[in-house]
Amino acid sequence: MEKLYGVIGDPIHHSMSPLIHNFALQKHRLHAHYTAFHVKAEKLEDAFKGFRAIQLAGLNVTIPHKQSIIPLLDEVDPLARDIGAVNTVVLENGKYVGYNTDGPGFIRQLKNIDRHFSRKKVLIIGSGGAARAIYFSLAKEKVQTIDMANRTIQKARTIINDCPYQTESQALALIDAEKCLDQYDILIQTTSIGMFPNIHETPIQIKRLKENTIVIDIIYNPFETKFLQEAKKHQAIIANGIDMFIHQAALSFELWTNQAFPVEDTKKLVIKQLGGDKC
Ligand code: ATR
Repeated sequence: MEKLYGVIGDPIHHSMSPLIHNFALQKHRLHAHYTAFHVKAEKLEDAFKGFRAIQLAGLNVTIPHKQSIIPLLDEVDPLARDIGAVNTVVLENGKYVGYNTDGPGFIRQLKNIDRHFSRKKVLIIGSGGAARAIYFSLAKEKVQTIDMANRTIQKARTIINDCPYQTESQALALIDAEKCLDQYDILIQTTSIGMFPNIHETPIQIKRLKENTIVIDIIYNPFETKFLQEAKKHQAIIANGIDMFIHQAALSFELWTNQAFPVEDTKKLVIKQLGGDKC
């Protein structure tokens, strides 16, 4: 029988996950299909009962369900439990097990840019769900210094205090981070500032930046945010959020199928879908 996988969220029509997962399933000639399910917050429990009844093989979970799915699962992987968010559910021996592949997906991207990243000084800008997953995953990888700057400084403090992995960290106001950017080797922009249609905005001014600083913006619409454009003027090594998106999907796919995800071909597909091949 054909296996069924899917993604749940609200809204969900914009999701590129069906496109890329069906592409990967077809590449491996697996008898399976991946579909998008529009599930409202108040219907999550009912929807999940339905998934159990049909023994759905695996699920991606997106906004607003990443936290609320946790009590419905049979088991949760320790990293996902610590982060407090699940984006991947796997049917393992009849049990639904939750994982978080957002943070580990980011780590894969970073490893490809600099395999010595754990010795570097990192600054994360923003303290939302993505920042939390990235912070915990970097700390788990034993990155020695991870500072976090946010408009609401208390949210940065909460993430730092909640993290069970040992690392040195300071919570900073955005304006203070701006003044000491030259202390960092890696900058990670996780806020929504600069995302389409507000493409002329940046969360902080990039004036003091060392040459060859790695600057990653997890936004990929536009491909190159104003933040990345400014960083480029200071000879930074820049990357957008496409790789994080692809690698989180790759890790989900590997958990479900035990097969390698076609990373490079999928990246071309995503760029084409976003219109980037016409840039
Ligand atoms: P996600 O879960 O997608 O990572 P989120 O939880 O909505 O996103 O978090 C968004 C982040 O962008 C937060 O760090 C937020 O700052 P606050 O914690 O102070 O709210 C930041 N952010 C969004 N709009 C902002 C703005 N106009 N100025 C500064 N920070 C902003």
